[in-house]
Amino acid sequence: MSEFAELSLGDKKYQFPVITGSEDEKAIDIAKLRDETGHITIDSGYKNTGATKSAITFLDGELGILRYRGYSIEELAEKASFLEVAYLLIYGELPTTTQYAEFENAIKTHTIVNEDMRKIFEGFPVNAHPMGVLSAMVCAMSAFYTGDKSGSDELNIIRLMAKMPSMATWSYKKSQGHPVNYPNNSLDYCSNFLNMMFALPVATYQVNPVVAAALNKLLILHADHEQNCSTSTVRLVGSSHASLYASISAGINALSGPLHGGANQEVIEMLEAIKEDGGDTSKYIAMAKDKNSGFRLMGFGHRVYKNFDPRARIIKKAADDVLAALGINDPVLKIAAELESAALNDEYFVARKLYPNVDFYSGIIYRALGIPTDMFTVMFAIGRLPGWIAQWKEMKANKEPIGRPRQVYVGATERAYVAINERA
Ligand code: MLT
Repeated sequence: MSEFAELSLGDKKYQFPVITGSEDEKAIDIAKLRDETGHITIDSGYKNTGATKSAITFLDGELGILRYRGYSIEELAEKASFLEVAYLLIYGELPTTTQYAEFENAIKTHTIVNEDMRKIFEGFPVNAHPMGVLSAMVCAMSAFYTGDKSGSDELNIIRLMAKMPSMATWSYKKSQGHPVNYPNNSLDYCSNFLNMMFALPVATYQVNPVVAAALNKLLILHADHEQNCSTSTVRLVGSSHASLYASISAGINALSGPLHGGANQEVIEMLEAIKEDGGDTSKYIAMAKDKNSGFRLMGFGHRVYKNFDPRARIIKKAADDVLAALGINDPVLKIAAELESAALNDEYFVARKLYPNVDFYSGIIYRALGIPTDMFTVMFAIGRLPGWIAQWKEMKANKEPIGRPRQVYVGATERAYVAINERA
Protein backbone atom coordinates (compact mmCIF):
# COMPACT_ATOMS: atom_id res chain seq x y z
CA MET A 1 0.00 0.00 0.00
CA SER A 2 1.40 3.43 -0.92
CA GLU A 3 2.09 5.74 1.97
CA PHE A 4 1.79 9.51 1.80
CA ALA A 5 2.73 12.49 3.99
CA GLU A 6 0.19 15.28 4.07
CA LEU A 7 1.26 18.92 4.30
CA SER A 8 -1.13 21.74 5.06
CA LEU A 9 -0.17 25.25 3.91
CA GLY A 10 -2.85 27.84 4.48
CA ASP A 11 -6.11 26.39 3.22
CA LYS A 12 -4.37 23.96 0.86
CA LYS A 13 -3.35 20.37 1.51
CA TYR A 14 -0.60 18.54 -0.33
CA GLN A 15 0.46 14.90 -0.35
CA PHE A 16 3.97 13.60 -0.90
CA PRO A 17 4.93 9.93 -1.26
CA VAL A 18 6.69 8.11 1.58
CA ILE A 19 9.39 5.66 0.53
CA THR A 20 10.52 2.71 2.64
CA GLY A 21 14.04 1.27 2.55
CA SER A 22 15.03 -2.38 2.85
CA GLU A 23 15.53 -1.88 6.60
CA ASP A 24 12.15 -0.11 6.95
CA GLU A 25 13.67 3.37 7.07
CA LYS A 26 11.07 5.94 6.00
CA ALA A 27 11.56 9.09 3.89
CA ILE A 28 9.21 11.68 2.46
CA ASP A 29 9.96 12.21 -1.23
CA ILE A 30 9.78 15.99 -1.70
CA ALA A 31 10.97 16.04 -5.32
CA LYS A 32 7.83 18.00 -6.30
CA LEU A 33 7.58 20.15 -3.15
CA ARG A 34 8.71 23.48 -4.68
CA ASP A 35 6.79 23.02 -7.93
CA GLU A 36 3.59 22.22 -6.04
CA THR A 37 3.88 24.51 -3.00
CA GLY A 38 6.45 27.20 -3.87
CA HIS A 39 8.22 26.20 -0.66
CA ILE A 40 11.54 24.43 -0.10
CA THR A 41 12.73 22.72 3.06
CA ILE A 42 15.74 23.92 5.01
CA ASP A 43 17.82 21.63 7.18
CA SER A 44 21.19 23.02 8.25
CA GLY A 45 23.76 20.22 8.19
CA TYR A 46 21.26 17.95 6.42
CA LYS A 47 20.49 16.23 9.76
CA ASN A 48 17.04 15.19 8.56
CA THR A 49 17.65 15.18 4.82
CA GLY A 50 18.47 12.15 2.71
CA ALA A 51 20.61 12.89 -0.35
CA THR A 52 20.19 9.55 -2.06
CA LYS A 53 19.08 5.94 -1.90
CA SER A 54 22.11 3.73 -1.37
CA ALA A 55 22.69 -0.02 -1.24
CA ILE A 56 26.20 0.18 0.19
CA THR A 57 26.13 0.76 3.96
CA PHE A 58 23.35 0.51 6.50
CA LEU A 59 23.68 1.95 9.95
CA ASP A 60 21.18 2.21 12.76
CA GLY A 61 22.18 4.98 15.15
CA GLU A 62 19.80 3.89 17.90
CA LEU A 63 20.81 0.21 17.91
CA GLY A 64 24.47 0.73 17.03
CA ILE A 65 24.27 -1.37 13.89
CA LEU A 66 26.75 -0.99 11.00
CA ARG A 67 26.69 -3.28 7.93
CA TYR A 68 28.53 -3.13 4.61
CA ARG A 69 26.33 -4.60 1.86
CA GLY A 70 24.42 -6.50 4.57
CA TYR A 71 27.45 -7.97 6.36
CA SER A 72 27.93 -6.85 9.99
CA ILE A 73 31.00 -4.77 10.81
CA GLU A 74 31.73 -7.18 13.65
CA GLU A 75 31.97 -10.19 11.31
CA LEU A 76 33.92 -8.35 8.63
CA ALA A 77 36.41 -6.89 11.13
CA GLU A 78 36.94 -10.33 12.63
CA LYS A 79 37.01 -12.54 9.53
CA ALA A 80 37.73 -10.53 6.36
CA SER A 81 40.76 -8.89 4.82
CA PHE A 82 40.61 -5.19 3.99
CA LEU A 83 40.89 -5.93 0.27
CA GLU A 84 37.94 -8.35 0.52
CA VAL A 85 35.92 -5.60 2.17
CA ALA A 86 37.08 -3.09 -0.46
CA TYR A 87 35.90 -5.49 -3.18
CA LEU A 88 32.58 -6.00 -1.35
CA LEU A 89 31.95 -2.26 -1.07
CA ILE A 90 33.00 -1.42 -4.64
CA TYR A 91 31.45 -4.36 -6.51
CA GLY A 92 28.61 -5.34 -4.17
CA GLU A 93 29.53 -8.92 -3.27
CA LEU A 94 32.30 -10.69 -1.37
CA PRO A 95 34.81 -11.90 -3.98
CA THR A 96 35.31 -15.52 -4.94
CA THR A 97 38.86 -16.83 -4.69
CA THR A 98 39.37 -16.08 -8.39
CA GLN A 99 37.82 -12.62 -8.17
CA TYR A 100 39.96 -11.77 -5.14
CA ALA A 101 43.13 -12.92 -6.89
CA GLU A 102 42.27 -10.87 -9.98
CA PHE A 103 41.50 -7.79 -7.85
CA GLU A 104 44.70 -8.13 -5.82
CA ASN A 105 46.80 -8.73 -8.95
CA ALA A 106 45.24 -5.73 -10.71
CA ILE A 107 46.13 -3.55 -7.73
CA LYS A 108 49.67 -4.93 -7.62
CA THR A 109 50.04 -4.13 -11.32
CA HIS A 110 49.51 -0.45 -10.51
CA THR A 111 51.25 0.09 -7.16
CA ILE A 112 54.19 1.91 -8.77
CA VAL A 113 53.58 5.66 -8.90
CA ASN A 114 54.69 7.69 -11.94
CA GLU A 115 58.14 9.06 -11.16
CA ASP A 116 57.04 12.50 -12.36
CA MET A 117 54.53 12.50 -9.46
CA ARG A 118 57.57 12.45 -7.15
CA LYS A 119 58.68 15.76 -8.69
CA ILE A 120 55.37 17.29 -7.59
CA PHE A 121 55.79 15.74 -4.15
CA GLU A 122 59.35 17.05 -3.75
CA GLY A 123 57.96 20.58 -3.94
CA PHE A 124 56.19 20.25 -0.58
CA PRO A 125 57.94 21.55 2.55
CA VAL A 126 59.16 18.90 5.02
CA ASN A 127 56.53 19.96 7.56
CA ALA A 128 53.61 19.88 5.12
CA HIS A 129 50.59 18.16 6.69
CA PRO A 130 50.23 14.72 5.09
CA MET A 131 46.52 15.28 4.38
CA GLY A 132 47.25 18.36 2.30
CA VAL A 133 49.93 16.47 0.45
CA LEU A 134 47.69 13.44 -0.11
CA SER A 135 44.75 15.45 -1.47
CA ALA A 136 47.10 17.31 -3.84
CA MET A 137 48.78 14.12 -5.05
CA VAL A 138 45.44 12.37 -5.66
CA CYS A 139 44.15 15.41 -7.51
CA ALA A 140 47.36 15.44 -9.56
CA MET A 141 46.44 11.95 -10.78
CA SER A 142 43.59 13.58 -12.72
CA ALA A 143 46.29 15.47 -14.65
CA PHE A 144 48.45 12.41 -15.20
CA TYR A 145 45.68 10.04 -16.26
CA THR A 146 43.90 12.10 -18.83
CA GLY A 147 43.27 11.87 -22.57
CA ASP A 148 44.39 8.52 -24.02
CA LYS A 149 45.83 7.59 -20.59
CA SER A 150 42.59 8.29 -18.77
CA GLY A 151 41.39 4.69 -18.93
CA SER A 152 38.01 3.53 -17.67
CA ASP A 153 36.50 4.29 -14.28
CA GLU A 154 37.34 0.68 -13.39
CA LEU A 155 41.02 1.21 -14.21
CA ASN A 156 41.08 4.47 -12.28
CA ILE A 157 39.52 2.69 -9.28
CA ILE A 158 42.38 0.18 -9.36
CA ARG A 159 44.98 2.94 -9.84
CA LEU A 160 43.68 4.77 -6.75
CA MET A 161 43.50 1.67 -4.56
CA ALA A 162 47.03 0.80 -5.69
CA LYS A 163 48.80 4.13 -5.55
CA MET A 164 47.24 6.06 -2.67
CA PRO A 165 48.95 3.97 0.05
CA SER A 166 52.30 4.46 -1.70
CA MET A 167 51.88 8.23 -1.88
CA ALA A 168 50.58 8.33 1.69
CA THR A 169 53.88 6.99 3.01
CA TRP A 170 55.96 9.57 1.16
CA SER A 171 55.04 12.35 3.62
CA TYR A 172 56.18 10.28 6.57
CA LYS A 173 59.47 9.29 4.96
CA LYS A 174 60.16 12.93 4.01
CA SER A 175 59.36 14.08 7.57
CA GLN A 176 61.97 11.61 8.83
CA GLY A 177 64.54 12.66 6.25
CA HIS A 178 64.46 9.09 4.91
CA PRO A 179 64.21 7.86 1.32
CA VAL A 180 60.77 6.75 0.19
CA ASN A 181 60.22 3.03 -0.33
CA TYR A 182 58.85 1.47 -3.45
CA PRO A 183 55.91 -0.93 -3.06
CA ASN A 184 56.78 -4.61 -2.62
CA ASN A 185 54.27 -6.72 -4.51
CA SER A 186 55.30 -9.86 -2.66
CA LEU A 187 53.50 -8.46 0.40
CA ASP A 188 49.78 -8.19 1.12
CA TYR A 189 48.11 -4.78 1.09
CA CYS A 190 48.59 -3.91 4.76
CA SER A 191 52.09 -5.40 5.02
CA ASN A 192 53.13 -3.51 1.88
CA PHE A 193 51.94 -0.26 3.48
CA LEU A 194 53.84 -0.96 6.70
CA ASN A 195 56.95 -1.88 4.72
CA MET A 196 56.78 1.36 2.71
CA MET A 197 56.28 3.29 5.96
CA PHE A 198 58.98 1.74 8.12
CA ALA A 199 61.55 -0.13 5.99
CA LEU A 200 65.00 1.48 5.93
CA PRO A 201 67.90 0.64 3.58
CA VAL A 202 70.12 -0.08 6.56
CA ALA A 203 68.33 -3.20 7.75
CA THR A 204 65.76 -5.79 6.74
CA TYR A 205 62.31 -4.75 7.92
CA GLN A 206 60.10 -7.54 9.14
CA VAL A 207 56.37 -6.78 9.24
CA ASN A 208 54.97 -7.73 12.64
CA PRO A 209 51.88 -9.89 11.94
CA VAL A 210 50.15 -8.41 15.00
CA VAL A 211 50.62 -4.92 13.58
CA ALA A 212 49.49 -5.99 10.09
CA ALA A 213 46.38 -7.67 11.52
CA ALA A 214 45.54 -4.59 13.60
CA LEU A 215 45.95 -2.33 10.57
CA ASN A 216 43.74 -4.66 8.53
CA LYS A 217 41.01 -4.35 11.18
CA LEU A 218 41.37 -0.57 11.48
CA LEU A 219 41.08 -0.07 7.71
CA ILE A 220 37.96 -2.26 7.61
CA LEU A 221 36.35 -0.29 10.44
CA HIS A 222 36.89 2.96 8.51
CA ALA A 223 35.96 1.64 5.05
CA ASP A 224 32.53 3.27 4.73
CA HIS A 225 29.93 5.04 6.80
CA GLU A 226 27.02 5.96 4.52
CA GLN A 227 26.54 9.68 3.77
CA ASN A 228 29.11 11.24 6.13
CA CYS A 229 30.63 14.62 5.32
CA SER A 230 33.51 13.40 3.14
CA THR A 231 31.42 10.79 1.32
CA SER A 232 28.72 13.36 0.59
CA THR A 233 31.49 15.61 -0.73
CA VAL A 234 32.75 12.85 -3.04
CA ARG A 235 29.24 12.25 -4.36
CA LEU A 236 28.52 15.96 -4.82
CA VAL A 237 31.77 16.68 -6.67
CA GLY A 238 31.30 13.51 -8.73
CA SER A 239 27.74 14.54 -9.62
CA SER A 240 29.21 17.27 -11.85
CA HIS A 241 31.05 14.43 -13.67
CA ALA A 242 34.39 15.61 -12.33
CA SER A 243 36.96 12.82 -12.43
CA LEU A 244 37.16 10.13 -9.75
CA TYR A 245 40.51 11.59 -8.69
CA ALA A 246 39.11 15.11 -8.29
CA SER A 247 36.15 13.72 -6.33
CA ILE A 248 38.33 11.63 -4.00
CA SER A 249 40.72 14.55 -3.51
CA ALA A 250 37.75 16.65 -2.40
CA GLY A 251 36.74 13.87 -0.01
CA ILE A 252 40.25 13.83 1.48
CA ASN A 253 40.00 17.55 2.10
CA ALA A 254 36.60 17.20 3.78
CA LEU A 255 37.95 14.36 5.93
CA SER A 256 40.88 16.50 7.09
CA GLY A 257 38.59 18.70 9.16
CA PRO A 258 38.92 18.25 12.97
CA LEU A 259 35.17 17.71 13.20
CA HIS A 260 35.46 14.74 10.85
CA GLY A 261 38.47 12.56 10.16
CA GLY A 262 40.84 14.99 11.84
CA ALA A 263 39.26 14.08 15.18
CA ASN A 264 41.58 11.08 15.66
CA GLN A 265 44.59 13.40 15.58
CA GLU A 266 42.82 15.84 17.93
CA VAL A 267 42.08 13.01 20.39
CA ILE A 268 45.67 11.90 20.82
CA GLU A 269 46.83 15.54 21.04
CA MET A 270 44.21 16.06 23.77
CA LEU A 271 45.38 12.95 25.65
CA GLU A 272 48.99 14.05 25.30
CA ALA A 273 48.14 17.54 26.60
CA ILE A 274 46.38 16.06 29.63
CA LYS A 275 49.41 13.84 30.27
CA GLU A 276 51.80 16.81 29.95
CA ASP A 277 49.57 18.75 32.38
CA GLY A 278 49.99 16.08 35.05
CA GLY A 279 47.36 13.59 33.91
CA ASP A 280 44.57 14.89 36.19
CA THR A 281 41.57 13.73 34.16
CA SER A 282 39.10 15.01 36.78
CA LYS A 283 40.30 18.55 36.01
CA TYR A 284 39.57 18.08 32.32
CA ILE A 285 36.27 16.35 32.94
CA ALA A 286 35.24 19.41 34.96
CA MET A 287 36.43 21.68 32.15
CA ALA A 288 34.42 19.66 29.64
CA LYS A 289 31.30 20.39 31.71
CA ASP A 290 32.14 24.10 31.95
CA LYS A 291 30.96 25.86 28.77
CA ASN A 292 33.24 28.81 29.59
CA SER A 293 36.38 26.68 29.76
CA GLY A 294 36.75 26.52 25.98
CA PHE A 295 37.79 22.87 26.41
CA ARG A 296 36.04 20.22 24.37
CA LEU A 297 36.43 16.47 24.85
CA MET A 298 37.45 15.12 21.43
CA GLY A 299 36.42 11.63 20.37
CA PHE A 300 33.11 11.52 22.20
CA GLY A 301 29.60 11.40 20.82
CA HIS A 302 28.50 11.03 17.21
CA ARG A 303 26.03 12.69 14.89
CA VAL A 304 24.31 9.39 14.08
CA TYR A 305 24.97 6.90 16.87
CA LYS A 306 22.76 7.65 19.89
CA ASN A 307 24.09 5.11 22.37
CA PHE A 308 27.42 3.75 21.17
CA ASP A 309 29.60 3.56 18.06
CA PRO A 310 29.93 -0.16 17.21
CA ARG A 311 33.33 0.50 15.69
CA ALA A 312 34.58 1.96 18.97
CA ARG A 313 33.78 -1.26 20.79
CA ILE A 314 35.77 -3.30 18.25
CA ILE A 315 38.66 -0.84 18.24
CA LYS A 316 38.84 -0.68 22.05
CA LYS A 317 39.30 -4.44 22.26
CA ALA A 318 41.80 -4.36 19.41
CA ALA A 319 43.71 -1.60 21.23
CA ASP A 320 43.91 -3.69 24.38
CA ASP A 321 45.03 -6.76 22.38
CA VAL A 322 47.64 -4.89 20.31
CA LEU A 323 49.20 -3.07 23.24
CA ALA A 324 49.33 -6.33 25.22
CA ALA A 325 50.82 -8.25 22.26
CA LEU A 326 53.41 -5.54 21.67
CA GLY A 327 54.10 -5.14 25.38
CA ILE A 328 53.33 -1.44 25.22
CA ASN A 329 52.32 0.44 28.37
CA ASP A 330 51.14 3.72 26.87
CA PRO A 331 50.54 6.33 29.62
CA VAL A 332 47.85 8.02 27.55
CA LEU A 333 45.91 4.77 27.61
CA LYS A 334 45.34 5.20 31.37
CA ILE A 335 44.13 8.74 30.73
CA ALA A 336 41.89 7.47 27.92
CA ALA A 337 40.45 4.78 30.19
CA GLU A 338 39.62 7.38 32.89
CA LEU A 339 37.93 9.67 30.35
CA GLU A 340 36.05 6.71 28.91
CA SER A 341 34.87 5.69 32.39
CA ALA A 342 33.60 9.20 33.03
CA ALA A 343 31.84 9.32 29.67
CA LEU A 344 30.12 5.99 30.31
CA ASN A 345 29.16 6.65 33.95
CA ASP A 346 28.96 10.40 34.62
CA GLU A 347 25.35 11.55 34.16
CA TYR A 348 26.51 14.76 32.45
CA PHE A 349 28.07 12.79 29.59
CA VAL A 350 25.50 9.98 29.59
CA ALA A 351 22.63 12.49 29.30
CA ARG A 352 24.39 14.13 26.35
CA LYS A 353 25.26 10.81 24.67
CA LEU A 354 28.97 11.65 24.89
CA TYR A 355 30.38 8.11 24.72
CA PRO A 356 33.72 7.19 23.05
CA ASN A 357 33.47 7.04 19.26
CA VAL A 358 35.69 5.42 16.64
CA ASP A 359 38.20 8.29 16.75
CA PHE A 360 38.73 7.97 20.51
CA TYR A 361 40.62 4.69 20.33
CA SER A 362 41.97 4.65 16.76
CA GLY A 363 44.76 7.09 17.58
CA ILE A 364 45.89 4.90 20.48
CA ILE A 365 46.31 1.92 18.16
CA TYR A 366 47.91 3.90 15.36
CA ARG A 367 50.41 5.23 17.88
CA ALA A 368 51.09 1.70 19.11
CA LEU A 369 51.71 0.67 15.50
CA GLY A 370 54.38 3.39 15.27
CA ILE A 371 52.32 5.69 13.07
CA PRO A 372 52.90 9.39 13.86
CA THR A 373 50.00 11.59 14.93
CA ASP A 374 49.81 13.72 11.80
CA MET A 375 49.39 10.52 9.76
CA PHE A 376 46.32 9.34 11.71
CA THR A 377 43.82 11.02 9.38
CA VAL A 378 45.75 9.70 6.39
CA MET A 379 45.10 6.22 7.80
CA PHE A 380 41.42 7.10 8.01
CA ALA A 381 41.56 8.16 4.33
CA ILE A 382 43.24 4.91 3.24
CA GLY A 383 40.52 2.97 5.04
CA ARG A 384 37.70 5.14 3.66
CA LEU A 385 38.96 5.05 0.05
CA PRO A 386 36.94 1.96 -1.04
CA GLY A 387 33.84 3.46 0.54
CA TRP A 388 34.30 6.74 -1.28
CA ILE A 389 34.91 4.83 -4.54
CA ALA A 390 31.82 2.65 -4.02
CA GLN A 391 29.62 5.66 -3.29
CA TRP A 392 30.99 7.59 -6.31
CA LYS A 393 30.43 4.54 -8.53
CA GLU A 394 26.84 4.13 -7.23
CA MET A 395 26.07 7.82 -7.84
CA LYS A 396 27.27 7.51 -11.44
CA ALA A 397 25.56 4.15 -12.04
CA ASN A 398 22.29 5.67 -10.80
CA LYS A 399 22.79 8.59 -13.21
CA GLU A 400 22.05 10.98 -10.35
CA PRO A 401 21.65 14.65 -11.38
CA ILE A 402 24.22 17.28 -10.48
CA GLY A 403 23.79 18.21 -6.83
CA ARG A 404 22.54 21.76 -6.50
CA PRO A 405 20.77 22.57 -3.17
CA ARG A 406 18.45 25.60 -2.90
CA GLN A 407 18.56 28.34 -0.22
CA VAL A 408 16.47 30.90 1.59
CA TYR A 409 17.89 34.36 0.86
CA VAL A 410 18.14 36.59 3.93
CA GLY A 411 20.38 39.37 2.57
CA ALA A 412 19.70 42.96 1.49
CA THR A 413 16.63 43.57 -0.65
CA GLU A 414 17.07 45.52 -3.91
CA ARG A 415 18.93 48.83 -3.63
CA ALA A 416 20.46 51.29 -6.15
CA TYR A 417 24.22 51.69 -6.73
CA VAL A 418 25.79 54.74 -5.05
CA ALA A 419 28.94 56.31 -6.49
CA ILE A 420 31.93 55.95 -4.18
CA ASN A 421 32.24 59.69 -3.55
CA GLU A 422 28.62 59.78 -2.38
CA ARG A 423 28.88 56.97 0.14
CA ALA A 424 28.87 57.77 3.85
C1 MLT B 1 32.72 8.50 9.67
O1 MLT B 1 32.99 7.31 9.85
O2 MLT B 1 32.69 9.07 8.57
C2 MLT B 1 32.49 9.33 10.90
O3 MLT B 1 32.01 8.55 11.96
C3 MLT B 1 31.60 10.53 10.67
C4 MLT B 1 30.19 10.24 10.23
O4 MLT B 1 29.81 9.12 9.92
O5 MLT B 1 29.43 11.25 10.20
